[in-house]
Amino acid sequence: MRWLPACWCLIFGTGLKNDENMIYLRVTLRRFWISMIQSVFDCPFLWQPPMHRFKAAAYRFLLGVHFKGECLIHSGVRILNPGNLVIGNYCSLVYGCIIECRNKVAIGDNTIIGPQAFITAGGHAPADLSPTTRSVSIGKNVFIGARAMILQGVRIGDNSIVGAGAVVVKDVPPNTVVGGVPAHEIRRLERAGRIWTGFGEINCE
Ligand SMILES: CC(C)(COP(=O)(O)OP(=O)(O)OC[C@H]1O[C@@H](n2cnc3c(N)ncnc32)[C@H](O)[C@@H]1OP(=O)(O)O)[C@@H](O)C(=O)NCCC(=O)NCCS
Repeated sequence: MRWLPACWCLIFGTGLKNDENMIYLRVTLRRFWISMIQSVFDCPFLWQPPMHRFKAAAYRFLLGVHFKGECLIHSGVRILNPGNLVIGNYCSLVYGCIIECRNKVAIGDNTIIGPQAFITAGGHAPADLSPTTRSVSIGKNVFIGARAMILQGVRIGDNSIVGAGAVVVKDVPPNTVVGGVPAHEIRRLERAGRIWTGFGEINCE
């Protein structure tokens, strides 16, 4: 099987001269297969029940995403380092959202990540642009609006809402609606009884 790495070297235009190249090759290969698998499972009818189970199983067994239960993964969703992602029960990852798991990213039960939202657990230090990572945690019953950005280290409390287009740079307390750039509190939110999920209504307690 020694010809196999050599083939990949040719395909990716890199050599195996030293460890650095090996690491580069491994990372490139892993990202190649991850993006291939995510592209293959982009087919629109695959995220809808009951086929969502098939897609979630592929994400679990081929990419290493840790699901605590059911999850709807719409088309165009992209997850970097999927092994660092933990997703609660009855969550929805809506069209085109990107989750960069350069560190742990945890998403609580019943949470909706809106269209083209961007969650990142990484960045670059302003002083020298060296890579930085801090984990991100999103509580349960949270709604992240379309094209919102959640930056590294942020914790979003249970039952909170992030408005469309917001850039969240610091923690959001529970039961709070935030919006804007940078995100600020719009109002407090009291939620009781049942909430909507992609799997039907459930009790939010
Ligand atoms: C944040 C949001 C939930 C607030 O809804 P709401 O509680 O009904 O708020 P209102 O529309 O009454 O607006 C309240 C105030 O917040 C402001 N606001 C609303 N949405 C905002 C946003 N995304 N960013 C910044 N400010 C926002 C309004 O301008 C208003 O300000 P004012 O009181 O100074 O006039 C909603 O505006 C939003 O962004 N929803 C996301 C929609 C989405 O992403 N859909 C994708 C489908 S999955």
